[in-house]
Amino acid sequence: MEPRKRMEYLAGELLRHQHLYYVLARPEVSDAEYDRLLDELLQLEMRFPQYASANSPSRRVGSDLDNSFPERPHAVPVLSLDKLYQPQEAAQWLRKTAAACGNEPGFTVEEKIDGASIVLYYDRGELQYALTRGNGLVGNDVSANVRTIGQVPLRIAETSSLAVRGEIYITRGDFAAFNAGLPEKYANPRNLAAGSLRNLKSALAARVPLNFFAYEGFFPAGREGRPGESSGRDHLEILHRLAGLGFRVHPRPGFFCDSEARRERALQLFPEATVAPLSAVEDHLRRLGEARASVPYDIDGLVIKLVEMDMRQELGFTTHHPRWAMAYKFDSPQARSELLDVQVQVGRNGRVTPVAVLKPVQLSGSTVTRATLHNQDYIDMLELGIGDQVGISKRGDVIPAVEEVLDKSVASPSVYRLPENCPFCATRLVKEGAHHFCRNEECPERRRRALSYFCAREQMDIETLGEKTIAFLFARGWVRTVPDIYSFDVERLHGEEGFKERKIARIRASVEASRKQPFARVLAALGFEGVAAAVVAALIAHGFDDIDKIIAAAARNDWQAFAAVEGIGEATARQLVGHFSAPANLETIARLRAAGLQFRAEGAAPERVDDSLVGQVWVITGSFARFNPRSLAADEIRKRGGRVAESVTARTTHLLAGASAGSKLAKAEKLGVAVVSEDEFLSLLRKNQTK
Ligand code: IVH
Repeated sequence: MEPRKRMEYLAGELLRHQHLYYVLARPEVSDAEYDRLLDELLQLEMRFPQYASANSPSRRVGSDLDNSFPERPHAVPVLSLDKLYQPQEAAQWLRKTAAACGNEPGFTVEEKIDGASIVLYYDRGELQYALTRGNGLVGNDVSANVRTIGQVPLRIAETSSLAVRGEIYITRGDFAAFNAGLPEKYANPRNLAAGSLRNLKSALAARVPLNFFAYEGFFPAGREGRPGESSGRDHLEILHRLAGLGFRVHPRPGFFCDSEARRERALQLFPEATVAPLSAVEDHLRRLGEARASVPYDIDGLVIKLVEMDMRQELGFTTHHPRWAMAYKFDSPQARSELLDVQVQVGRNGRVTPVAVLKPVQLSGSTVTRATLHNQDYIDMLELGIGDQVGISKRGDVIPAVEEVLDKSVASPSVYRLPENCPFCATRLVKEGAHHFCRNEECPERRRRALSYFCAREQMDIETLGEKTIAFLFARGWVRTVPDIYSFDVERLHGEEGFKERKIARIRASVEASRKQPFARVLAALGFEGVAAAVVAALIAHGFDDIDKIIAAAARNDWQAFAAVEGIGEATARQLVGHFSAPANLETIARLRAAGLQFRAEGAAPERVDDSLVGQVWVITGSFARFNPRSLAADEIRKRGGRVAESVTARTTHLLAGASAGSKLAKAEKLGVAVVSEDEFLSLLRKNQTK
């Protein structure tokens, strides 16, 4: 067969199998058979790239090339829903809206899935592009990532243009499993779904088990259903038509209407639907709210929608919301506040964090004035702008979070955007993953933050060098880098305002005392990205108890040695290699070491003196005159290449037995292990020394 024909055939077959597998969960072929078809298509696409289409089923696999997310206008403005928090308020809204319509209107009740919203644009049967909501008028084109989602149809049997709105989400189970493998954890499924859409590499997005669910379809006016097809006049009919085109839609919508004939029609379209008169809606909302935990994905509420398209048009929109739909939210935000400003923080590693400055509000016993906004994606997801009324909660009862926009500011209904340049050094910010970064190593804010971090109580605990003193020393140019803390002349502070004799003496003493801080603290205090206390503890426990061992592994580019440490994954292991081979970091370490800081853990195996005990396995028991604590004897063995074990086994070669040795001695004698006394051990060490 001609390659082009064969490619078309394979693409058609693969898309059909993908639909059977992802949407209908009813595969017709084995995974192996499917892989064979896909492999053949991939081979052909490599040889004949001119015939590969943008919607080839191979796009599910994603690409390693960097994505870009150009802005595009939405064909239909993407509005958000107005919200209510009580079932009786929602029922009241329904009655009022029904009365305004007259003529026995119908309403659906759908799950409000807590994911990332997306609009898919189709034309001539092909997915053209997929846009995030953005500010509602303009969204980001995230097509390459969306094409990797098996549940998103790439080709459909509908030639007129069509926009489909839906939600991209991840189940709680998949979230837990996937998140466990990530070096940087996501707080919840919603953030992971939103983050994945903005993944720079679609091959990475392809690995995230994302789902898609369609909840609104926009067929062009006049495209009202061919004979035998559902009409486009009613939301339920539209959902049914979308399902026929291969979209996943909710199989069990609620349908509420006082006309019995229309309730029956609803059951024809969706046999599993819950149908009832309008008066039953309040109970239904309550029941679904209670059953919320039994669905495998997060839902944060229910959406009530008028189904008649012509009546939707008549009711129209407020500035922000359609009048024909309402969200009933399960959790009311615990406090209402106003976003006064967004402060842009730059951390010691350059990461940019927007922080909400809020109108002070009381919440579970404290006054909330600030909350982290994480990154631009989070702000986009909330559609948050300065002046908006926001709902605040306390996650895990401690950390305040901005959960949602309750009312957009009338004065400026825009979405906040991070500045393009670092506010402290004017370097252009770059986006990596979900975050923006200032990559200027000399950025004064990054340096100041690195110094403060080093001195903080959790790290080196130099309490006299607080934020203010650091800022002062930094501004004077006396302390610009961490090693400067140990080399700057404290006496220069005499005569400076605010530095009396006693204060200067205290600074001198606390800097001095910090030289004795243990290795674990020093290493974490350096503040290298990904090298916080837990990773440091794991390194030391695994034998990376001396900076020279760490530097040696990094110099060999031996990330596997780090990855072998329990609790350290590949990403962190590779970071470690980078940190401990960077010349600037090595210089910092050398200067701190010269200043007398601890770069070896207490009890760490010291440098090798000779190889005289290589291949031997020693066990130490009893008490000693010279080797007290016993770890001193262990050190001597390790210095000569020997191993020290806890218990006597067939592999033990020597037992070092001190006074009142007990069961270990007995076992060693039984196994025929060489037993060495303290004196013999001393002469062994001496003999080797003179050799
Ligand atoms: S209808 C104009 N239906 O909830 C029509 N939205 O503010 C507006 N959502 O983030 C949307 N499930 O992505 C609708 N069944 C559903 C939904 C739903 C989740 C999300 C939507 C948006 C927010 C609405």
